[in-house]
Amino acid sequence: MRAIVYSKYGPPEVAKLAEVPKPLPKDYEVLVKVYSSTVNRTDSGFRSAEYFISRFWTGFLKPKHQILGCEFAGIIEEIGQSVKTFNKGDKVFGFNDKTCGGHGEYLTIAETAAITTMPTGCSFNEAAAISEGAHYALVDIRAAKVERGQNVLVYGATGAIGSAAVQLLKHFGALVTAVCNTNNVELIKSLGADTVIDYQTQDFTKTEIKFEFIFDAVGKSSFRQCKPLLTEKGIYISTELGKNNENILFALITPFFRGKKLLFPIPSITKQDVIFLKELVQQGKYKPVIDRQYNLVQIVEAYKYVELGQKTGNVVLKIVE
Ligand SMILES: NC(=O)c1ccc[n+]([C@@H]2O[C@H](COP(=O)([O-])OP(=O)(O)OC[C@H]3O[C@@H](n4cnc5c(N)ncnc54)[C@H](OP(=O)(O)O)[C@@H]3O)[C@@H](O)[C@H]2O)c1
Repeated sequence: MRAIVYSKYGPPEVAKLAEVPKPLPKDYEVLVKVYSSTVNRTDSGFRSAEYFISRFWTGFLKPKHQILGCEFAGIIEEIGQSVKTFNKGDKVFGFNDKTCGGHGEYLTIAETAAITTMPTGCSFNEAAAISEGAHYALVDIRAAKVERGQNVLVYGATGAIGSAAVQLLKHFGALVTAVCNTNNVELIKSLGADTVIDYQTQDFTKTEIKFEFIFDAVGKSSFRQCKPLLTEKGIYISTELGKNNENILFALITPFFRGKKLLFPIPSITKQDVIFLKELVQQGKYKPVIDRQYNLVQIVEAYKYVELGQKTGNVVLKIVE
């Protein structure tokens, strides 16, 4: 089968199109013929190993699993002997950041992992883009214990995480103020944001609103900068480590004090999470935002675009044209 393979950590060029053996499903696994995947910041982080910590998952000296692509959508082609919950021909999507594999024509995954059937009426491209940004957003929203009617600020609302966060927060009943660039104001309003701050013309730190939760989905602000905007017990979460890894330090210290806190939840995903996201898609409450689409031969170009840090939502990698 054809797959994008990387045998060492490095720039986008280490990812190469190659012919590799088709995987065989174990007893408890399904074999998925992949139709669509995405190229996202998780794939980029694993490939570049820019943050050394990622090697704890991917291998210290070289990648343990050489095909990236943590998101996928496709059709089940084979099932292992003990698989009970899927059948051949099921259209499925999911997320797997342990062994990945979405950047190849076939992947295997345990039936109990974060995989479920596709939402009705959803294309492979859309289904592939449901889970990466959304599950990070979900982990952080849950950690902040957001309640109906609370004011939440989403900084960097146009990324994969930010655009999912705006929609999920609206589902949970929050009043969302979203920060984005001029070109995307209408898009972010269409995702349900109650107030949109255009960071190219307005300074978000000057807003009069006080927030129970500030979610920096792009890691470009700081706790110090956002603290005055938080309510007395407000929570700040960023998707990045911050200057000199300060977000880790604050996450360790602030829970011991009353008042404003910085949290740094460890991301995770379960089958229940992808089922939850599927249901929101079916109910029309969540729609992954799709930016550009690439195919396998354009993988380097796709990574370079993603690593500009300026994609709007998700970048799809079409495995079947
Ligand atoms: N902790 C983890 O495990 C983990 C996993 C995945 C990703 N991440 C991190 O999470 C962050 C977001 O990832 P993502 O995939 O959602 O992002 P992304 O899709 O790469 O998008 C970044 C978005 O943020 C906007 N943006 C950039 N700078 C901005 C600024 N100063 N103010 C407001 N908006 C700004 C960009 O739009 P414009 O610049 O055009 O306005 C772009 O739409 C990244 O920093 C990534 O490294 C962390």
